[in-house]
Amino acid sequence: MHRVLFVCLGNICRSPTAHGVFRQAVIDADLQDRFEIESAGTGDWHLGKAPDPRAQAQAAARGIDISDLRARAVFPEDFDDYDHILAMDAQNLADLKAMQPVGSRAKVSLFLDHLSGHEGESVPDPYYGGEEGFQTVYALVEATTESLLKQWGKA
Ligand code: 4NP
Repeated sequence: MHRVLFVCLGNICRSPTAHGVFRQAVIDADLQDRFEIESAGTGDWHLGKAPDPRAQAQAAARGIDISDLRARAVFPEDFDDYDHILAMDAQNLADLKAMQPVGSRAKVSLFLDHLSGHEGESVPDPYYGGEEGFQTVYALVEATTESLLKQWGKA
């Protein structure tokens, strides 16, 4: 069983995209009994909100519905409840490392460390930009999802 938590700042653009795309890929591969998937934000401005309409539109254009997701904050318990916590950018990673309780089990890493050729890179925050930023987010999420499933789908 792989318990995976995707984390960004607001939990309305990048991490819900990863949540929804990874969830669909797991369903398509018929691996639902092997994964538990969730997303959260390090910030708390958007609690309870559905994903940004621009993020929803990118997913919907590929037949993936993420409208049911709701923003929540990262909790200290998450570091024991999840095996993998994937940070969308370097600031999210630093914030997660600062809040990780000593001795907790989760492996905290940068999301793009799991995409060959993009190690150490951040998924750019698209919130204050245009549609192009959301397209970039979607493409990076799609490629990383494929790579993660190759890595984790076997065991
Ligand atoms: P996310 O994008 O971290 O990918 O969900 C953002 C959403 C909201 C804000 C920043 C980033 N904000 O400042 O409200």
